[in-house]
Amino acid sequence: MLDEKKVVLSGIQPSGNLTIGNYLGALRNFDAFPDCKCIYCVADLHAITVRQVPAELRRRTYETLALYMACGLDPEKNILFVQSQVPAHAELGWVLDCYSMFGELSRMTQFKDKSQHHADNINAGLFTYPALMAADILLYQTDLVPVGIDQKQHLELARNIAERFNGIYGDTFTVPDGYIPTTGMKIMSLCDPTSKMSKSDPNPNAVVYILDEPEVILRKFKRAVTDSGTEVCRGEGKEGIANLMNIYACFTGKSDDEISAEFDGRGYGAFKQAVGEAAAECLRPIREQFTRLMADKAYLEEVMKKGADQAAYYARKTMSKVRRKVGFAL
Ligand code: TRP
Repeated sequence: MLDEKKVVLSGIQPSGNLTIGNYLGALRNFDAFPDCKCIYCVADLHAITVRQVPAELRRRTYETLALYMACGLDPEKNILFVQSQVPAHAELGWVLDCYSMFGELSRMTQFKDKSQHHADNINAGLFTYPALMAADILLYQTDLVPVGIDQKQHLELARNIAERFNGIYGDTFTVPDGYIPTTGMKIMSLCDPTSKMSKSDPNPNAVVYILDEPEVILRKFKRAVTDSGTEVCRGEGKEGIANLMNIYACFTGKSDDEISAEFDGRGYGAFKQAVGEAAAECLRPIREQFTRLMADKAYLEEVMKKGADQAAYYARKTMSKVRRKVGFAL
């Protein structure tokens, strides 16, 4: 532990525009650890496991940092940094590659998914990605990792790697716990409520982005796929409504019963309108603050620099321990 406080760490890849799924599943929870040392990285090393347009990757790195701040993460109280600016991530990533087994990496569902989607570029980084993510986490002796449900398997692997390493060399890494929100665990596509809402969905109506304008948000929810019924409740064949109920619950804190009662006899139209309004209202201040921050690049660069220096300080402590244990020349 650093400074006796519990350490919280998470990361987001700067690849693609973030969706309300990213917001509700991860980002929104990042601000919920008042007595912890919170470290959040923009995972640009992870992003290059799929081909990126360089100028876009750089722009999105700034944007992701700005979004962290727009969602309420104060750089004076949290360490916000860009992964590639702290070389210890790549360094520990390599070391942990050597303690990650081919078999366990082969079982990662995200690897299997991504290799299907990027069949022309199934590179070694895509395969060893979870070991780099383990390095992100273990470098800071992290206690808690707030992530969306889709990262649970990677987190489990990070725990296994930590335990394996500790088993060989004695206590080196804190074994981290996940912090996975119970509500809004998985936000589904608005056009196909049986598949996850994905920032890379080619159909823009399927996805609500954090930075969408209010009118756009309202329109997307109005068009969301539902069923031929009228009752706002969960049930067989009502995946679309269930997804909208999840989203509404996340934005308003209302329970299923409260939601069903609120829209009793009012039909899907009124419900979709309300979901859209709730989302638009919650996201409005974030978009406004984001726009202000993006207009001040020099400030964002200052935040990055300071964050990288702070992160590197802690990372160095773990790295010198690792170097000693593994047997690298001191
Ligand atoms: N792999 C995560 C994702 O794709 C992002 C990530 C990178 C991360 N490093 C991390 C999450 C460390 C938690 C902890 O969403």
